[in-house]
Amino acid sequence: MLETLKWTDSGVLFIDQTKLPTEEIWVTCSKYEDVADAIRTMIVRGAPAIGVAAAMGIALGARDLDVTCISEFRNGFGQICRLMGETRPTAVNLFWAIRRMQRRFEEVSGRPIPLIKQALIDEALNIYAEDIATNRTMGANGAPLMPEAGGVLTHCNAGALATAGYGTALGVIRAAVEAGKKIHVYADETRPFLQGARLTAWELMKDNIPVTLISDNMAGAMMAQGKIQAVIVGADRIAANGDTANKIGTYSVAILAREHGIPVYIAAPFSTVDLDTPDGSGIPIEQRAATEVTHLGGKQIAPTGVLVENPSFDVTPARYIRAIITERGVATAPFNESLRKLGQTKAATV
Ligand code: MRU
Repeated sequence: MLETLKWTDSGVLFIDQTKLPTEEIWVTCSKYEDVADAIRTMIVRGAPAIGVAAAMGIALGARDLDVTCISEFRNGFGQICRLMGETRPTAVNLFWAIRRMQRRFEEVSGRPIPLIKQALIDEALNIYAEDIATNRTMGANGAPLMPEAGGVLTHCNAGALATAGYGTALGVIRAAVEAGKKIHVYADETRPFLQGARLTAWELMKDNIPVTLISDNMAGAMMAQGKIQAVIVGADRIAANGDTANKIGTYSVAILAREHGIPVYIAAPFSTVDLDTPDGSGIPIEQRAATEVTHLGGKQIAPTGVLVENPSFDVTPARYIRAIITERGVATAPFNESLRKLGQTKAATV
């Protein structure tokens, strides 16, 4: 299985996603500040992977705290969690993972410091292992929704690289292919950061899953030509009513799909569902640097000084979404009810 990140005694290791697909380089983050930088600069990216990375970064920082009493530990731990929380605002998995590490800290805070440190490392490793299991279960839940044969369009990268392994949207595709379905993936290149071109195409080709790369503005034409039977994407945050934030451009794809009568599926772990946010208007959208738009591969492609907008995510209203696939089951409209119900159930494991 393709690996994205791992915990070692010398630090947290990441495959550098800014260098793929031309270079496969692993970087070692030996300090928690380096892990925060890796998240901010998108060496590691994708909502679930950001959560796992943050948990490992927190465990690393806590392990290296040079403290003699619990109140010093608590101060240092708080500082580490704060820094992690300032890396990227949209993927709720980041805050979910930080909360989970904080809860674990509170549970074990009465123990001797070396045992607290070990408990936090164990918790980060649990989050890592659970993410892979969650993706497999999501794959099993979503595979029946994929066409027996035909084209499936995806946007951005919701694959192994965006998680601890296997992927969410690409996990569903992998499970469908493993079940014998003849799926051909259409990968939007995903301007401006090109996660589709650089990452989705790369990881699917590694798995010998048929994939055709298209630029984002070709999606409508592919649909009109009957080449797309379903759309499946991941999510960074799903509001209680089903409105879903995902990579910029997802909203346009969903509208195109509606026009062509093509179902849109979201695949995401339940940790991406934010029941405290009633609808998409409350989801914070990250704005990234203008140079991501004005430059391509380090080369300037727009006039110096041009005004630029670069929202990294958009919100697809729930009415465009056929179903939300999670490890706890598949939610359909009305999502306010179905998501809340899933919130009360436990995941069935495959
Ligand atoms: O900016 P990114 O690359 O972190 O954005 C990633 C996405 O939008 C993914 O589709 C989403 O996080 C789901 S990943 C399983």
